[in-house]
Amino acid sequence: MGLFSFFNRELAMDLGTANSIVIYNDQVVIDEPSVVAIDKKTNKIMAVGTDAKNMEGKNSSEIIETVRPLKNGVIADYEMAQHLIRELIGMANVNRAILPPSLRMVICIPSGITNVEERAVREAAQQAGAKEIRMIHEPMAAAIGIGIDVLRPEGHIVVDIGGGTSEIAVISLGGIVCNNSVRIAGDEFNENIVDYMRSNHSMAIGLRTAEEVKIKVGSALSELDEEPEPFSTLGRDIVTGLPKQVQISYKEVAYALDKSITRIEQAILDTLGATPPELAADIYRTGIFLAGGGSMLRGLDRRIASKTNLEVHIADDPLRAVARGTGIALKNFDKFAFLIR
Ligand SMILES: Nc1ncnc2c1ncn2[C@@H]1O[C@H](COP(=O)(O)OP(=O)(O)OP(=O)(O)O)[C@@H](O)[C@H]1O
Ligand SMILES: [Mg+2]
Repeated sequence: MGLFSFFNRELAMDLGTANSIVIYNDQVVIDEPSVVAIDKKTNKIMAVGTDAKNMEGKNSSEIIETVRPLKNGVIADYEMAQHLIRELIGMANVNRAILPPSLRMVICIPSGITNVEERAVREAAQQAGAKEIRMIHEPMAAAIGIGIDVLRPEGHIVVDIGGGTSEIAVISLGGIVCNNSVRIAGDEFNENIVDYMRSNHSMAIGLRTAEEVKIKVGSALSELDEEPEPFSTLGRDIVTGLPKQVQISYKEVAYALDKSITRIEQAILDTLGATPPELAADIYRTGIFLAGGGSMLRGLDRRIASKTNLEVHIADDPLRAVARGTGIALKNFDKFAFLIR
């Protein structure tokens, strides 16, 4: 532990569209949905994280409002993002130093972020109490979290399929050589399922139910070796207005998600097409590395493998790969200094 970290607090934060993770002393101390619930009358924060997510879709919007401050990986609601960051730091409860601590944070940001968006993240963290703030690009953090030696002169391709964005990056010698980002990821999959249920089963379902369908019977392929049992989905019949239940099979979900997955595949193909030949040769050997919660969709690895003719590896604990990498960058601040802005 360096002198800085002895007297000060150091946090790594993956502020995601769907989930935010905080790492302190190499440990995940917070892993919560990026949702804030506010009391509309008093404008006070009622809940943050899981408690706030549990209110989503079940609240009367006149009394409680639930907000996701991030959209597509960037801050959409500045004030709420600030509340979220502050509450997450508070929940991490690391304020044990005797002297007033100064907080150093490394936060990861999407590679396609604009300067204005980056400033919004920085200012939100400052307002929330951080004194020294550094940023690292998400695909770089993902690569470090996966265990790739990003400083070597060797090309690797990383695909991070999160809630709001799918980011694809080719990394070599500590730099992002080429990258691509599409605003299609887990949240869009949920929307696809809502649309499918409406048009094919005349049924309205909420986004939370759609996410449950995706996790229980989601699939990128219409033929799976291990078939999940159909899932009983509850919602409202849009013709009669009455509650109803429908059994959904993974084949239906594969159909519902097909267009979105094709867009992600195309972005991967475009990135491979833009990769310099020496690095392409490396990637032929090393394959594609997937991270982010979206990479857990059944059959997605196999589908991407057959589309690209490359081997596809899913990161261990893909939901936390980016946060893990951000934590490693923080801990090895000097080694990775040039990756951190
Ligand atoms: N088993 C699963 N199968 C499919 N999708 C899943 C599974 N588990 C989680 N997800 C999805 O993963 C997404 C969240 O992933 P992740 O936490 O990596 O996103 P994020 O970092 O918050 O978003 P972003 O990086 O876009 O800002 C959600 O859309 C969630 O529904
Ligand atoms: Mg993410």
